[in-house]
Parts: sequence; C-alpha cells; structure tokens
Amino acid sequence: MKKILIDTDCGVDDAVAIMIALASSELNVLGLTTVNGNVGVEQVTENVLRLLPSLGRGDIPVFRGASRPLIGQPHHAEGVHGRNGLGDVELDDAGKPLEDTGAPEGMLRLARENPGLSLIALGPLTNVAIALNLYPELEELIGEIVSMGGAIGKGNVTPYAEFNYYADPESVQVVLESKVPLTVVPWDAAVKMTHSEEEICALGFGDSKAGKLLLDMHRPLFSYIEKVYGNRAAMFPDPLTMAYVVNPNIATQVLAGDLTMELADTPRRGASVHRQGNRLELVMEIDKAGFQSILLRIRNLT
Ligand code: BDR
Ligand code: CA
Repeated sequence: MKKILIDTDCGVDDAVAIMIALASSELNVLGLTTVNGNVGVEQVTENVLRLLPSLGRGDIPVFRGASRPLIGQPHHAEGVHGRNGLGDVELDDAGKPLEDTGAPEGMLRLARENPGLSLIALGPLTNVAIALNLYPELEELIGEIVSMGGAIGKGNVTPYAEFNYYADPESVQVVLESKVPLTVVPWDAAVKMTHSEEEICALGFGDSKAGKLLLDMHRPLFSYIEKVYGNRAAMFPDPLTMAYVVNPNIATQVLAGDLTMELADTPRRGASVHRQGNRLELVMEIDKAGFQSILLRIRNLT
C-alpha cells in the first residue's frame, strides 16, 4: 500500500480526487494539508473537514496551510468551483476538529513517521515550498511529489499558464530546485480527456452517496464550461492525477524533462516551459477507460 499525504485547495475536482484516494485499496491516506487556491484557505479547510466525515473518514488528520502565495496576492477560481469551492453543495458540519499545528509541521510529522511517503499536491505548491524551506530534512524524507499543475501547451488562466502554477509560480521554482523526485500532471493531460455531461451521467454512479455528490458538485461547473468552451463538459485534472498515483500504468504518454517557470511580471508570468532534462516526469496523456474504472470506485465509498 502506498502511503500518501494530500495537499489540496479543495475545489470540485480535488474533492473527487480525494474520493478516489479513499476508495482505492492501493493507497493509505495519512493526512491532508490545505492551501489557498480555488477558494481561500479557510473555506478550503472547512470543505475538507466536512468532506472527510461525509465519506466515513473523519479519522484522517487535517492541517491548515498557507493563506496566500509566496509573493503577491491570492488568486481564486470561484467562477469554476462555485462560491464555496464545492459547486455550492452544502455538506453537513460533523464537527471534525483541525490539527493544532500547521501544514508544514503536519508534513514533517507525517514524513518522519512514514519516511518515503508520497506527497500528492493538488493545488498551488505554497505549502510544499514553505515546508521544504523550513525543514530541509523533508528532501530526504519525502519519497516523491506528484503535482497537478503547469501547461506545456495552452493554459487555462492565461494563454500561457495553468491555475495552480500561475497562482504561485515561485513555489513551483522552489520545488523544482529541490532534490525530491517529481512527477507533474499538467493541464494538457486534462484537456485531452474531456467528459460531456451526458457521458458523466451515464457512467453509472447510481444511488451511491459519493457518486451523487460528484454529480451535484459538477452542475455549476458544467455551466461554466459551457459558457467558456461552448459545451456542457468537465475536465478532471486532480482526479486524473490521483488515478495515475493509484495506477501509473494508465498513463499513455510520459515525457522526461525539466520545467522553467516564468517569474517575471509579464503576460507570460506563471508559464511552465518544458525543456530537455531529467529533473521530472510529465504525464501528458492518460487512458480514458483506465481512468474511468478507477473513478467509478467512488461508488463503493458510501
Ligand atoms: C487545477 O486548478 C484548480 O482549479 C483545479 O482544482 C486543479 O487543481 C487545474 O488547473
Ligand atoms: Ca486543485
């Protein structure tokens, strides 16, 4: 069983990725850390504290993280994920408490207890950069980082940049400069695999509570995508990333390389430029049937 720690800016697709992790016997979710991103960190944290008990996993510790990027002002994506980040679905408050320590300390504690763990980063890399800076021993303790972010082709926030890496490009640079083995699942993999609303509804989430939650959370997102791209559909960037962690064999195109972040205050800020090298692996494409079979596991959650 792979031991994982999930760092999340819990929006709609993060929630689905968390469901996949909890539904997969290959993964042992040790904890979650929250970070500013799709919505502010207070709301992200609230989302995670409500989501976990609703899926029967109120036992997993949650640590609150950074409220803003390393430099500059926070960027949010309420237009995509709804005002509360969960497609405006109101989950019950089961009163799950937050851990007393913050995200970097949570990362250190879990990594010391579980050397070699995988850190799955589904949002801006702010917490990861701060933790690596504060606690350099994490470079040895973390076995790998798998990060959803960046765009090699067209971005989703600007023509050049993807949301997670645009929201805190300096933090990406810190992670790139670390020694921790890194796999990046860029926006390109997500746009290559859109699902129409009909397709998602026909997948067979049935009457399961988790499946129903997935469908309910997506309703405002379908409307957003229709407005921007002209069809009612969804992309699954964070779920694709988690499905890849569950089974790397579903990747159909993986490139070795290096990334350089555009940090200057120009229209290209936040762009991730792919260069030759061997710093990381880029998962460019994932098999749709392989992904769907993992996604459908969430029916077995609740
Ligand atoms: C990424 O940005 C967020 O909106 C999603 O949750 C995903 O992590 C996609 O660009
Ligand atoms: Ca995310």
